[in-house]
Amino acid sequence: MSTFKVTLLPSQHQFLCSSRQSLLRSGLESGLNLKYGCDGGNCGECLVKLVSGSLQKIKHSDFNLTETQKNNQHYLSCCFAPISDVHLEAVEIGSVTEIAEQNIQTKVFKLEQLSDSVMFLSLKTPRAQPLHFIAGQHVTLTLEEGISRNKSIASCPCDGSKPEFHIKKRENDAFSEYVFQQLKKNDHITLNGPWGDFVMDDSSLRPLILIAFDTGFASIKSLIEHAIALEKEQPILFYWLMTPENKPYMENYCKSLQHALDNFEYKLVYIDECSKVVIAEVLSQLISREKAIKHSDVYVTLPVECRSAAEKMFIEAGIDDRHWRIDSINRI
Ligand code: FES
Repeated sequence: MSTFKVTLLPSQHQFLCSSRQSLLRSGLESGLNLKYGCDGGNCGECLVKLVSGSLQKIKHSDFNLTETQKNNQHYLSCCFAPISDVHLEAVEIGSVTEIAEQNIQTKVFKLEQLSDSVMFLSLKTPRAQPLHFIAGQHVTLTLEEGISRNKSIASCPCDGSKPEFHIKKRENDAFSEYVFQQLKKNDHITLNGPWGDFVMDDSSLRPLILIAFDTGFASIKSLIEHAIALEKEQPILFYWLMTPENKPYMENYCKSLQHALDNFEYKLVYIDECSKVVIAEVLSQLISREKAIKHSDVYVTLPVECRSAAEKMFIEAGIDDRHWRIDSINRI
């Protein structure tokens, strides 16, 4: 097995791809938002044009290219791998508005209680219908009983066939109660979306400061995995805000990233209580303590009630609004 350099045009984005892995899969795993549909040779959405180099077919496809497409060196990136360094013309998704709304009938793939108050939920989409999204977005989940909630996607867009969610235990919340008490493997859940623009500026070279309150970690985790896939080299500082009665339910994951990556730092901050005033106070302390914040890109997930106070703080701290994004965690 050999590995080759793939250069996309016109973006000049580059990634390495082995002669046994599809161009599409390698590109997605490298954090690139490549346009595709089924990842199975059926839809033609992943078409690229070979400008230089050579490819070999590694997967069967049912989609028929026209003679013109064949003559113009078009290939399905989900079915071909490189056998030399290659240059390809490819369509990359540039913004959330370019992703079509999807309606997918999924099945529960995995349920695991991560702490007293958080359930890990992984869904499996049909093989030819992976979820397309950008890291940081959310979707609407509808249970068979018709109960719907918006939930942040906690996984990386590189595997849209198994999106993950962190479901918070909430009293008097029919969705949460159903997930904790009745949901089981292979139950059906309808997924609609993706929604939202809480997404990373992939082109930015500024340090990243990520702040999550409780299960707001879900969308932050998706951003972290996307940044790792992109091999971002700038410092990534992650603050996880927790109340004492709640556990940082994936702390080992955060510690292992800190251990493995030179540029990743994790800080757990316990706050006295989940109140608008206390959360705002802690955020205000972080903003004044982190001198690098003015030169960083800041992504924050907070309860919706704290949003306007946080916006005011960033403005008063003189941080340009192109460099901070706030997401509400009430959906989580
Ligand atoms: S993604 Fe559908 S044919 Fe490649």
